[in-house]
Amino acid sequence: MQPAEFRRQAHLLADWIADYLEGSERYPVLSQVRPGAIRAQLPAAPPATGETMEAIWEDFQRILMPGLTHWNHPAFFAYFSISASPPGVLAEFLSAALNQQAMLWRTSPAATELEQVTLSWLRDLIGLPQPFEGVIYDTASISTLHALAAARERLGRDIRVRGLSGQPPITVYCSQDAHSSVDKAVLLLGLGHDWLRKIPIDESFRMRPDLLQEAIDRDRAAGCLPMAVVATAGTTSTSSVDPIPAVADIVRREGLWLHVDAAYAGPAAICPEYRWIVEGAERADSLTLNPHKWLFVPFDLSVLYVRDLHTLKAAFSLIPEYLRTEEETLNLMDTGIQLGRRFRSLKLWFIMRSYGVEGLQAMIRQACQLARHFARRVEEHPHFELLAPVPLSLVCFRACPPGVVDLDTLNEELMRTLNTSGEAFLSHTRLDGKLALRLAVGHMSTRRQHIDRVFELLEGYLAARGNSGSHSTQQRSLSQ
Ligand SMILES: Cc1ncc(COP(=O)(O)O)c(C=O)c1O
Repeated sequence: MQPAEFRRQAHLLADWIADYLEGSERYPVLSQVRPGAIRAQLPAAPPATGETMEAIWEDFQRILMPGLTHWNHPAFFAYFSISASPPGVLAEFLSAALNQQAMLWRTSPAATELEQVTLSWLRDLIGLPQPFEGVIYDTASISTLHALAAARERLGRDIRVRGLSGQPPITVYCSQDAHSSVDKAVLLLGLGHDWLRKIPIDESFRMRPDLLQEAIDRDRAAGCLPMAVVATAGTTSTSSVDPIPAVADIVRREGLWLHVDAAYAGPAAICPEYRWIVEGAERADSLTLNPHKWLFVPFDLSVLYVRDLHTLKAAFSLIPEYLRTEEETLNLMDTGIQLGRRFRSLKLWFIMRSYGVEGLQAMIRQACQLARHFARRVEEHPHFELLAPVPLSLVCFRACPPGVVDLDTLNEELMRTLNTSGEAFLSHTRLDGKLALRLAVGHMSTRRQHIDRVFELLEGYLAARGNSGSHSTQQRSLSQ
């Protein structure tokens, strides 16, 4: 592609993206294609000779667009709602063009040092103290894996060199509602899934510190080697926040590693009124949060803060001759499993500068206000109920009209009807054995009308079935 043609195409693309970001509501939120439908339209082999951008672009629009679920839609309320903010999109474009690979300081001094600067800004904003230093990875799953690898290194048993054979069972603790990435980290570190202890939760879905202490005592008595506790600040199911100060007390007494998973909720701590979310984390050894979840950064960008970067480096640093350099600086390759590093800090920097702290805070506050508004509508309606507290921007609720025995099936049907309407997208979880619908507010362009529309659609579906639920639901429930 010649420079003139690149320029023309880049302008066309910029126009298309601007229209898309402005008008993402034109598309169904949840892709309505059937499994395999996209693949069936694509050739089995690449073209032997190059094709025009027009041809590629036409296929993108015709074949791929229908297969996109629009995370940029203001009525995307499933999982955790995220935003590709325009300054972040621009930075991604620039980053692709610059093609920086920051494995060593010298291979991109700017990417290496901007990462340190943006992460120290963010650290100060969420109130973590100075000794914490940050590293950027792709996702929180990888951040947590690295944190637990550092914890394993700090055991001081030379596992890095000698492996795990001959070691007692090494135990890790998290709440029943911790994210599955903790399980995966334990699997990958070779600790064995059986040795991940899921600590029961209280009525507000928070880890019970008394039961954590009991589990550690039991394991010590049985000859295990407790290694780490993962506390969650903002669980995936309900956004509950584990009592980190009480957990930190236990962890300190027991000499374990404390990792805080604040993947979703951590960014909210930039607002003083939500700082409590990470209270106690200043005593942790590591904390992860995802700017790609709730700091308007296009996917992906996760941050791991560690109290002692040396421990992380001790777990991962390995310098072959061909990567040896004379500069005495941080080389990002020493802080994790991957050698190559993208220039991810560029988008965080663009976003922090473009919105400023106050702009970011305003968007977080707005999401929480909208969630509270939805929660109020649920509470005020006789046929809906909240199933968990709403500390942030996630509402867990269900329809509960009188006379319906099988509320799970009813709510599944409501969710399916809503999601196939293309107007909004909700996801679900299970709380105390009940199917709960999850409305996660987080997209920067979500407004009150989107929230109200979801409630009115659900109300309408329910009314259409008759207030006490559809005949078929009752029949099925009764026959079960
Ligand atoms: C609390 C929590 N931790 C970790 C993760 C995993 O995030 P990622 O997709 O960045 O690995 C999630 C995802 O939603 C989460 O909610």
